Amino acid sequence: MRPKHDPRHAGRESLSSSRGDRTLARDFPEFLRRSTAIGPAGLCPELRLHAAHDLQALWRAQETWLGRLGLAAPYWGMPWPGGRALARYILDHPSQFRGRTVLDFGSGSGICAIAAAKAGARRVEAADIDPYSLEAIAANARLNDAHVELVGEDLLGAPSRWDVVLAGDVWYEKFLAIRLASWLRSPALDATSKLLGDLGRAYFPRTGVVELARYPLPAAAPHERGTANTVGVWSVMPR
Ligand SMILES: C[S@@+](CC[C@H](N)C(=O)[O-])C[C@H]1O[C@@H](n2cnc3c(N)ncnc32)[C@H](O)[C@@H]1O
Repeated sequence: MRPKHDPRHAGRESLSSSRGDRTLARDFPEFLRRSTAIGPAGLCPELRLHAAHDLQALWRAQETWLGRLGLAAPYWGMPWPGGRALARYILDHPSQFRGRTVLDFGSGSGICAIAAAKAGARRVEAADIDPYSLEAIAANARLNDAHVELVGEDLLGAPSRWDVVLAGDVWYEKFLAIRLASWLRSPALDATSKLLGDLGRAYFPRTGVVELARYPLPAAAPHERGTANTVGVWSVMPR
């Protein structure tokens, strides 16, 4: 993939974005600093992330900062339970990721991509259609001295260039779930291992998946977890 603008370098990581139409406010790093705190990620204390405590408050703050209403929710502002569980699984099973090419679809804060990089993946792409997410992933990758490439395209339906596709906490919206389930089960991804992290959200596919691990959610905020007290990691079974 050819980046459409210059990669930024920080520490040992190289961060590049393929999104060419970004009209981002330039002071996002300052907004990130004042609207989140840096701390260990739940379930993955070895990773440090920028995280907000309250999604609604962050959402309002982002709208005030940009002077615009009706923006997408700032999902990048915290690692979600499905992503935390999937990242935990990755860190606990590095041999499944070492030397592999990995896509973290719907990367948000980048927690799964960063975990895959830490586990020794050869190349990690973090994809998200929210341009602010790409900025947050870049900042979080720097915090963890991880090497992650940023992709702003909607990759649903794309031919696979990855050994492993990760998707943490992405089953919250019907249209997205239909498109994602169809892609994950398409011939395009036949040769790719597909791993999901989810706590039982409305549109999680309940067939064609096998549970690999389950983790407790003691510290999750109520808005994150609903009534769930545990969160699972799943593999999509071959067709
Ligand atoms: C609930 S967040 C989960 C973030 C992260 N995986 C985690 O578990 O913490 C879902 C993310 O999916 C992204 N997303 C939604 N539709 C997408 C698409 N078609 N392609 C890439 N990302 C998408 C959203 O912007 C959001 O950042």
